[in-house]
Amino acid sequence: MYIKKIKIQNFRNYENQEIELDKNINIFYGNNAQGKTNILEAIFLCALGRSFRTNKDKEMIKKGQDFSNIEIDYEKKDRVGNIKFKIGDKKYVYLNDIKLKKLSELLGNINLVIFTPDDIGILKDGPSARRKFLDMMISQLRPHYIYNLNRYFDVIEQRNNYLKQNSYNNDMLEIWDEKLAEYGEIIYKYRNEYIEKIKEKIKDIHKEITNEEIKLEYISDCKNKEDYLKRLKKNREIDKIKGYTSARNT
Ligand SMILES: Nc1ncnc2c1ncn2[C@@H]1O[C@H](COP(=O)(O)OP(=O)(O)OP(=O)(O)O)[C@@H](O)[C@H]1O
Ligand SMILES: [Mg+2]
Repeated sequence: MYIKKIKIQNFRNYENQEIELDKNINIFYGNNAQGKTNILEAIFLCALGRSFRTNKDKEMIKKGQDFSNIEIDYEKKDRVGNIKFKIGDKKYVYLNDIKLKKLSELLGNINLVIFTPDDIGILKDGPSARRKFLDMMISQLRPHYIYNLNRYFDVIEQRNNYLKQNSYNNDMLEIWDEKLAEYGEIIYKYRNEYIEKIKEKIKDIHKEITNEEIKLEYISDCKNKEDYLKRLKKNREIDKIKGYTSARNT
């Protein structure tokens, strides 16, 4: 796929800007604080429904304005597409002029991989940075993934809220454990499948660039429902003291 055109209005430092892109490589260059990353942010927003720099959508609206519009035309092997994004009091997304009910419906239309200086954290920081990166990649390719991931988050939240209370009932916790382990296994499978698919390609590319070997493996303590249930049970007393679920794979 490729992005043909980007139109941005009242977005960050841009008032009205139209950018036509080439099918192959496009390079944005210029002095600091000119708005290069802002363009990438607008594209990211149309691909994933959020920014990679802020959780506050309103921050992206040009200062002094009360709305922002972003529009992208893209072309895929079998179809062309148009995404319109409006940020104001709320945010609205249109795919081919049809208003989307859920942001997750946006995923998979513009396929995107981002690598910024901060993303070195994928290697340097702890495993949660790597999981987040994986989640971002997989949710663009497999629409059901984000559904399972969201259910997993919901169960964690409910379980944590319950753990924060003073009285616990183990039967009650077991209901959440069961659900958590179910979604946990699904999440593991998707992630493992993705790593298995890319690891040989990464090996070749890395070898070509550095002439060194690289090995990629997804290591998890929660590979299946049974293992996950065992871990939850083992951590139950600690979880009660801490007031949150310690065995999580997000
Ligand atoms: N909400 C906003 N309204 C107006 N201007 C904004 C807003 N948010 C950011 N800016 C401006 O956007 C500019 C930064 O843009 P951006 O981060 O894209 O720069 P850049 O070209 O990537 O720079 P660098 O080379 O340093 O990475 C700054 O001038 C900043 O003041
Ligand atoms: Mg920048």
